[in-house]
Amino acid sequence: MQKLRRGWSPIIASRNRTRPNPAMPNKVQMGTSFEQNKAEPASGVPTRIEYGLTDDAWSGFDEYLKELVLATGSRTICELGAGANPALAPDFVQAHGLDYVILDISAEELAKAPPGYRIRVQDIAKPLTGVRGTYDFVFSKMLAEHVKDAEVFHRNIHALLRQGGTAFHFFPTLYAPPYAFNLLLPERLTHWLLSRMQAGRHDSGKNAKFPAYYHWCRGPTRAQLDRLESVGFRAVRYAGFFGHPGYYKKMPFAERIHRALASSLLRHPVPWLTSFAYAVLEKK
Ligand SMILES: C[S@@+](CC[C@H](N)C(=O)[O-])C[C@H]1O[C@@H](n2cnc3c(N)ncnc32)[C@H](O)[C@@H]1O
Repeated sequence: MQKLRRGWSPIIASRNRTRPNPAMPNKVQMGTSFEQNKAEPASGVPTRIEYGLTDDAWSGFDEYLKELVLATGSRTICELGAGANPALAPDFVQAHGLDYVILDISAEELAKAPPGYRIRVQDIAKPLTGVRGTYDFVFSKMLAEHVKDAEVFHRNIHALLRQGGTAFHFFPTLYAPPYAFNLLLPERLTHWLLSRMQAGRHDSGKNAKFPAYYHWCRGPTRAQLDRLESVGFRAVRYAGFFGHPGYYKKMPFAERIHRALASSLLRHPVPWLTSFAYAVLEKK
């Protein structure tokens, strides 16, 4: 990997391999960024790798998503695992003439979403039947960690996208301690613990807890980028975010220490220690 480059450049690594694409948005505040060794990944096009703080990933998500949709000129869009909380509002969809479908394995979760969305009930980790190559843009927020077979998941997304289409995922990453514990401890115990730590995490609400496996949920490690390449994607941009302060809301002192550690990781990034990631992928 190249030396760390401090600060922020508005130019995103080229999507057409010859010149930078200034249209790609760059709004999320991420303090440190670096590009990987130019020789990697296998496609020869460097992935733009950046780091930031988790608070910025959450507060910047909606804006970043909308900018990405517009900057890629996408019209046909599918959100996977949208459940109770579709990420694009109906007025944005209408204003830009988008064809937006929300998909989820659970009809019950989709029923909690506001009215006015086109819905599709489907398990995205099962081999796909029907529509293929139809979408310009497929994305997910807090879904990837819940999918048991990550390879089938990404292959299905690849099949759903048209050539050159964009996939975008926002997900928690190992080896952040809360997710490592969530993986290792029994589901009933983590369910109970989470309900104690965070208000509103009950099954009938809009932020229910689902079993998580964290397959292919890592920060911007070489192995993670290679896995995505192996199913036919090029990682255009991969952002790793440090910290998970939401788990310390009831422990202000622990939260302060945690935030200091996250800031220190931002100054000295370790891709295995991120807590969340954004992955922007292009179908090759
Ligand atoms: C943590 S919720 C996230 C919901 C929404 N994206 C959000 O950010 O609030 C995870 C969602 O993924 C759905 N889900 C889990 N496994 C799935 C699968 N294999 N295929 C499609 N949806 C799935 C769940 O039903 C649930 O609605």
